[in-house]
Amino acid sequence: MKTEEKTWGEYGGQKIKIFQLENTPGLKVRLMNYGATLVSLFVPDRQGNLADITLGFDSFEEYLGKNPYFGATVGRYANRIGQARFILDGQGYQLAKNDGENHLHGGVKGFDKVIWKTEEIGNSQSLGVKFSYLSPDGEEGYPGNLNCQVSYLLTESNELHISYLASTDKATHVNLTHHSYFNLVGQGEGNILEHELQIFASRYTPVDKTLIPTSEIKEVENTTLDFRQSRVIGERLNQLPGGYDHNFVLDNRGLLGLAARVFEPLSGRLLEVYTTEPGIQFYSGNFLDGTIKGKQGKVYGKYSGFCLEPQHFPDSPNKPNFPSTVLRPGELYRSLTIFKFLTK
Ligand code: GLA
Repeated sequence: MKTEEKTWGEYGGQKIKIFQLENTPGLKVRLMNYGATLVSLFVPDRQGNLADITLGFDSFEEYLGKNPYFGATVGRYANRIGQARFILDGQGYQLAKNDGENHLHGGVKGFDKVIWKTEEIGNSQSLGVKFSYLSPDGEEGYPGNLNCQVSYLLTESNELHISYLASTDKATHVNLTHHSYFNLVGQGEGNILEHELQIFASRYTPVDKTLIPTSEIKEVENTTLDFRQSRVIGERLNQLPGGYDHNFVLDNRGLLGLAARVFEPLSGRLLEVYTTEPGIQFYSGNFLDGTIKGKQGKVYGKYSGFCLEPQHFPDSPNKPNFPSTVLRPGELYRSLTIFKFLTK
């Protein structure tokens, strides 16, 4: 196992650092301090050939251009907050409107666009990088100084652990997630419509046309969202013109449990996602439209990558019936997601 650190650019007078983690079986993960972002992820297929299975860019500078959160850490609140506002303890807070009338992924300058402090971590079975960021009181409209840590750890058993910790000095809302776009054939190798997906969720949160939940929690049974048995992603897309962009209510709540599994038959690559979060957003890359040229000059068309974003439900600050995202002084926000790479 080894970690390498290099300088990858400069931003606002600060150094952009890139870390490469490699385990004994040969998995390689690259991470940078801008956005605590996963830049690439090389994993073997069933023959042992490595491919980079995440979308992104070859240079730091390209991450500053049109970039739909490739590999980023998303916060302070991942996903949407309706009308970009909430009331907490009787006080109203106005956030940035960066998705029509709504707030998306932490605002104009979310956690994906800030420089995080770094520290190499690890032990005999894993190695990684711990990223820390202090989000000041009032940033993007949120109350409280929020101290956050995101640690990525690559294990010898081909798991990537992403763990989150946060604490605050005023009551606030927190919902952190990871936003990698995966294509298990390899980044830029066509679309993900033939991948087979299973999501361990019997319910989902229906949304309005601006993708804000209606407050209902409905059964997936007899809908295009029923992935309780493994289904090919493209199979029912003709019934869902916009594509998938839905929050699933995971059956396993609170404990670390298997949330989703994706198998790609050509390469034999299998991805399992475990999380302690109550929900997962399945997004099928609907807004990718061929205008982004990514790594190795590959053009990213519609459905060229999928995201599985473990999270609390969208708009929870305005939905009293959803699991709470409030964090108060003295409490610790903790969350863990594991991406496990296998072949079959
Ligand atoms: C999330 C959202 C999508 C979209 C992408 C980024 O997955 O749910 O609607 O905003 O991020 O493009």
